[in-house]
Amino acid sequence: MTQSNIPGFLVEPEEKITQLRQLLHQASYAYYALDNPIMEDAVYDQLYHELQALEQEFPQFITPDSPTQRVGEKPASQFVSVQHHIPLYSLENAFDFGEMQAWEVRWQRYWQTNQGAELPTPEYVCELKIDGSALALTYEKGVLLRGVTRGDGSAGEDITPNVKTIRSIPLRLNWDNPPEIVEVRGEAFLGLDVFHRINQEREAKGEALFANPRNAAAGTLRQLDARIVSQRQLDFFAYTLHLPETDDLRTVNFPGPAPTTQWHSLELLQNIGFKVNPNRQYCPDLTAVQAYYDLWATGRLALPYLTDGVVIKLNDLAVQQGLGFTQKFPRWAIAWKYEPEQAITAVLDITVQVGRTGALTPVAELNPVQLAGTTVSRATLHNRDRLAELDLHIGDRVVVHKAGEIIPEVLRVFPELRSPHAQPFVFPSHCPECHELVIQPKDEAVTRCVNPTCPAIVRGSLLHWVSRNALDVEGLGEKIISQLVEKGWVTSVADLYDLQAPQLANLDRLGAKSAANIIASLEKSRQKPWSRVLYGLGIRHVGAVNAQVIASEFPSAATLAQASLEDLNAIHGIGPEIAQAVVDWWQNPANHTLITRLSQAGLQLTTPDLHPVPSNSQPLKGKTLVVTGTLPTMSRAEAKKRIQQAGGKVTDSVSQKTSYVVVGENAGSKLSKAQTLNIPCLTEAELVEMLQ
Ligand code: IVH
Repeated sequence: MTQSNIPGFLVEPEEKITQLRQLLHQASYAYYALDNPIMEDAVYDQLYHELQALEQEFPQFITPDSPTQRVGEKPASQFVSVQHHIPLYSLENAFDFGEMQAWEVRWQRYWQTNQGAELPTPEYVCELKIDGSALALTYEKGVLLRGVTRGDGSAGEDITPNVKTIRSIPLRLNWDNPPEIVEVRGEAFLGLDVFHRINQEREAKGEALFANPRNAAAGTLRQLDARIVSQRQLDFFAYTLHLPETDDLRTVNFPGPAPTTQWHSLELLQNIGFKVNPNRQYCPDLTAVQAYYDLWATGRLALPYLTDGVVIKLNDLAVQQGLGFTQKFPRWAIAWKYEPEQAITAVLDITVQVGRTGALTPVAELNPVQLAGTTVSRATLHNRDRLAELDLHIGDRVVVHKAGEIIPEVLRVFPELRSPHAQPFVFPSHCPECHELVIQPKDEAVTRCVNPTCPAIVRGSLLHWVSRNALDVEGLGEKIISQLVEKGWVTSVADLYDLQAPQLANLDRLGAKSAANIIASLEKSRQKPWSRVLYGLGIRHVGAVNAQVIASEFPSAATLAQASLEDLNAIHGIGPEIAQAVVDWWQNPANHTLITRLSQAGLQLTTPDLHPVPSNSQPLKGKTLVVTGTLPTMSRAEAKKRIQQAGGKVTDSVSQKTSYVVVGENAGSKLSKAQTLNIPCLTEAELVEMLQ
């Protein structure tokens, strides 16, 4: 679908151009003048390119004040502007291997046309593309003279006092007889931990948060108070060394080999005192470059700083010189970027989904967009409050974000780009599935349908029951489950076990063979352990791991039904929210009926005892025991059960009537009381011995 077809987005090109121009002006004012960015750099770039494309198509609407007509942005007034002797070029971007191959063909053609000679061997150096802020550092006779920001590439700001606070930048080069002037370039950045700490501090003070480490680094570098900069712990990786013309270098002793390649330059930079990123690699061809790119596609996620791609440079400095620069970029280097995680698209509609807990989740239906390697056509809007906060209208332009495996979400809305036809969205007061009134519980952001027979809730609980970590029933996907619910054959998970193969074979898209497979898989699920059944019940906050923990303390549905809030809270790793949810679940009589039916259907509602005590042996008959602390191998519930099976009685408090106290690690007041009353204490091993 093209944008002009999108309902609510019927904006004329001239109007669109004006909107984009104004928004970009605001963004660049906020970024440069206020040091308080209102959008991510990647988002700015996308809007900028959109404006550029529109202006190309409709040049009659270009105005002299369009951001596309400006060569660069003005530095902020507080710092002195400095002309760069050698401009700071930007890098051309590639997004796939095809574009990398095209770049290789391009520089080789240029070489053949302009140098005529034989093609040089295409050997490359790959470096990580650090997501920070470029700096140019001038050293005079080996001493740091000046540190300047990139600015517009031809002039930047002199921020020397701030640069001097960066510990990874040497104030004096480790070089005995250095050239008169040396210029080093590299990337200043903030480590992720420092970035998070700064934002936490800002949040505590009620200050606006930095959107990402890159903005935080750029903002910090342009701080007027160098003491603040010093606290922020900026870091720096050097990547380019500019030496004077070769003639002046005759008297210079290089600490290491004189650089003739990028690889040597990086080594020299390291030798003279700079931090150089260790994850660089020499690559003899593009296949090796691809392997490097692939390796760091995931490797970069574990680094303590952000990278947004890799930079590939021709290794031979003479070849670099022969290739030179275009208006904007070096011909001898390129950035191969990783997929952006944010993109701009339009909201075609807003729908509301009802989950298995009855939670109503608003979802933005999007004009499909490529994001982090996948096509995204839906994004969560989380809940009613978040939707209201965004003030999203149908037809709005939005930024969607997706990182790794997380569900895509709408990050931001551009009301500035809104069409007069865009429709505000009214959150439903009734469940879109069963049409019952919905509620918004106090202190919760979630709006819920609380009708237990709501088809969406039933469908959700069935899907959860059959999911892999629960009862792992194969063949029951969304489509089949929807039919089972629609036909009224299944209203609870227990009904699944009444289904017959011939009945299933009547459903759409299901033959006799698939029906038989489903029945066989349901049969298999009857043997799944109690912990999986517990997880499958879908009690709020009880995930697969919590279910295992709870099931090992309460080895059957019957014991869990009797568990008090206190008992559950005492389990290591089970918090009060989970404990409350479990107790609440058992308070609903419908759930007791469900458990009875599941038991009749043959599901495992108890964990078989691996060490049964013969029923005729009652070694603890007439004894009263108290169990306290954490035992080395047995849970307290298990110890209790085994004492009872051996004829003993278990109580909660120590008194004169207590025969023994079984003591584990971190035992507290019960142990002291036992010692005061002179009651014998047992270790777990001693208890086991007694049981036998
Ligand atoms: S080389 C002419 N190497 O990426 C050579 N740049 O998008 C230009 N960057 O402005 C720079 N890591 O701020 C180079 N290893 C690296 C880099 C790197 C990050 C930044 C740099 C540049 C931007 C271009």
